[in-house]
Amino acid sequence: MKEKMNIVIVGHVDHGKSTIIGRLLADTGSLPEGKLEAVKENCARNSKPFEYAFLLDALKEEQAQGITIDAARVFFHTEKRNYIILDAPGHIEFLRNMITGAAKAEAALLVIDAHEGVQENSRRHGYMLSMLGINQIVVLINKMDLVKYDQKSYENLVKEYGDFLKSINVEPQAFVPVSGMQGDNIFNQMENMPWYTGTNVLGVLDDFTKKKPLNNQAFRMPVQGVYKFTGMGDSRRIVAGTIDSGTVNVGDEIIFYPSGKKSKVKTLEAFNEDIGDSASAGMAAGFTLEEQIYISRGELAAKTSESIPKVTTRALVSLFWLGSKPMEKNKDYVMKIGSSRTTVVVEEIKAVIDASTLASGVKENIERHDVAEIILKMKKPAAFDLVAEIASTGRFVIVDNYEISGGGIIRESLPDKQTWARDIVLQRNFEWEKSRITCTQRAEKYNQKAALLLITGPENPNKKVLAKAVEEKLFIDGKFVYYLGFESLLFGLDADVQNGENARREHLRRLGETAHILLDSGLILVITVDQFNSDDLALINTMVNPDFIETIWYGDDPTDDHPFDIHIASEEEIENSVYRIKETIQRRGIIYSPW
Ligand code: GTP
Ligand code: MG
Repeated sequence: MKEKMNIVIVGHVDHGKSTIIGRLLADTGSLPEGKLEAVKENCARNSKPFEYAFLLDALKEEQAQGITIDAARVFFHTEKRNYIILDAPGHIEFLRNMITGAAKAEAALLVIDAHEGVQENSRRHGYMLSMLGINQIVVLINKMDLVKYDQKSYENLVKEYGDFLKSINVEPQAFVPVSGMQGDNIFNQMENMPWYTGTNVLGVLDDFTKKKPLNNQAFRMPVQGVYKFTGMGDSRRIVAGTIDSGTVNVGDEIIFYPSGKKSKVKTLEAFNEDIGDSASAGMAAGFTLEEQIYISRGELAAKTSESIPKVTTRALVSLFWLGSKPMEKNKDYVMKIGSSRTTVVVEEIKAVIDASTLASGVKENIERHDVAEIILKMKKPAAFDLVAEIASTGRFVIVDNYEISGGGIIRESLPDKQTWARDIVLQRNFEWEKSRITCTQRAEKYNQKAALLLITGPENPNKKVLAKAVEEKLFIDGKFVYYLGFESLLFGLDADVQNGENARREHLRRLGETAHILLDSGLILVITVDQFNSDDLALINTMVNPDFIETIWYGDDPTDDHPFDIHIASEEEIENSVYRIKETIQRRGIIYSPW
């Protein structure tokens, strides 16, 4: 089978991208029989001048008849390979496609109009390519006919744009003077530019080198979903996704991030096909695991035998902003990496660069078309790679108000306040000795899902009264429930914790670990702690799966941005509060609800 390569064609508006592709298709005889003549005739009939770019539109219309073009993709082949050329219809669409990875290109043709010269988007697109790691670039100086095929004009542009590329560390593979309209140096060598002795466009395409397959990088698969087999008595679950990089084999030990849970691949599955014992980058695949572990969409699968992804809530990134509204600090955005979605805020804007002039400065907001170096702070930990290590999981997209508004690459993983505890948890999960009873079996047996009801708020003895009343109510209902006050740990489990700066966090860590064990046993655990703040909660969220935690704030409104699920005013009747808590956990499916 012939090698396949994706090429993206970029450049300022009207500089001739579509014309060059149309010409390439026509001159290489890649068009369907009679197409060229039909389009020419149609133009003549309507007395409008023929354009090679029309060929693309004409082919688009015929898509239904199985012609090799769709949306912005043009298929054609040389003796060496099959090409897919991506020609996005407009500037913003192009950027959006590039950022989201919808357009995955291995090399780029960048078109500059010889007559109009280097324009804003010539630079912007060049910068963008370098940011996205597309470093095989050939620059086509087009419309040479308009400058009378003048060598000096060409060389001036080569110098000007070459210097720009150098300043962003890009070394183009070649510059080619062409005329898409007249056909010079596209496929045919013509007499107009005897001073040019390099290869033509077709030649530069074939000169691009094929990237190594991603199979030899570490295995990464963002989990798209976990699906149940539907057969009788079949309790297996398929963990499904598309493999971003690397290879997975039956028997491999897999670890999921950010949770750090691990298991072994039992079988590999694909839809309606037998894929054998191994699956690799680019494949949509699924696997079943030897032991049932609780994981869900958004986790990143890796192998214990290879390099592992980063897990944190802070990252230094380069971001390209496309949103109609500027990106601001202190505003929530959604960050998507692989299949995970996390709420993020901009913690710090380190630099803002105008991608067309490369002028850089410090700004308060990031405006459309700006490239910025910023620190993003995530509301919960995410798993990712650095773009320099594994490109596909080192990219992200920012969604603002349901619209893809930006994207970029992750340059550095930064520590946060929970890093120390997260490292312990990852190690704990790695070493965890799994029982033969799964959490599903326990839930079936006890008729409830494990949960942590965390009651906090200002100091007030009634908090404990409420907690004990909740325990009692659930107990009488027949639930498997236990009340644990923070103080109960202090003189036993925590007896060795020295007073000092880190005492509170160590107490909380032990509380979290205790909760983790009790929840693993299938219990509904009711805990009271005074004055929990958002850092404390983040720490508990690190130790215990946040999906299993219900937070109840008892008393006056919290002063910091403490998120809670239920708020109970101190003057509320205990009985009523108990009822509300019970109703909430019924609604969450933790205990059975008859309605
Ligand atoms: P967008 O898709 O709108 O960004 O434009 P584009 O880059 O695809 O440009 P397109 O191919 O549509 O060409 C724009 C105009 O430039 C058309 O009128 C073309 O006929 C003209 N043009 C393209 N190539 C050449 C060329 O080599 N010489 C001359 N004289 N005109 C050209
Ligand atoms: Mg076009």
